Amino acid sequence: MASKDKSINPESVHDRLRAATGAAHEQLDSRFGALDLGERDDYARFLHAHYLGLLPVADAFEAFAGSVLDTGVPDYPAMLRDDLSDLGLSVAGVGAPAAPEGLHPAGVAYVVAGSRLGLASLRRDRFWGKSGGCASRYMTDDAGLNVWRAMAGWMRGARLPASEVSAICDSAVSVFALFEDGLVRSLPEHAG
Ligand code: HEM
Repeated sequence: MASKDKSINPESVHDRLRAATGAAHEQLDSRFGALDLGERDDYARFLHAHYLGLLPVADAFEAFAGSVLDTGVPDYPAMLRDDLSDLGLSVAGVGAPAAPEGLHPAGVAYVVAGSRLGLASLRRDRFWGKSGGCASRYMTDDAGLNVWRAMAGWMRGARLPASEVSAICDSAVSVFALFEDGLVRSLPEHAG
């Protein structure tokens, strides 16, 4: 018998997000992966790009996590400002990209919370903060992994109309684009 339930299989919200953002993630991995985090300038650029990508969506991330996932989030923009300041750099001179109107907050939360998985893997290798004797609040934060776990649980349990899942996926792709834009804006001559 055909189901009248228009919601999609709960397992597939995460699958759909992973599929929709796979190419954008791969592209970002390879662009960020071209930076040598063991080198001070590349490490600073990496942090600055994350700052610029995160800033426009930090409030939406926090609001979704608080109201839907029932969890707080680390203040990543503040951590990044402090980490960059320890390197003698200020973020004051470079404007962050503007977030597109109407981003679905679940798409934002998927990308920002998911990015902690990549960071957890990157920090196993040498990076300047550690080897250069600087604190690295952003790279070493573990609290974001708890947000990811909560997000994964939400994605498992979510029963949403297909149109909303599409909106979440489109928003997630747009958030990846913000990080790409952040990387472009974070050219070394702009920092300082
Ligand atoms: C060099 C940079 C990066 C590397 C090497 C990297 C690598 C990874 C790795 C290893 C995972 C875990 C995959 C798994 O456990 O199945 C992951 C997951 C993820 N990363 Fe990245 N990442 C990078 C940058 C980013 C950035 C900048 C973002 C977003 C702003 C991001 C968003 C995500 C998301 C959303 C997931 C969750 C994928 C899923 O399971 O649905 N990553 N990444």
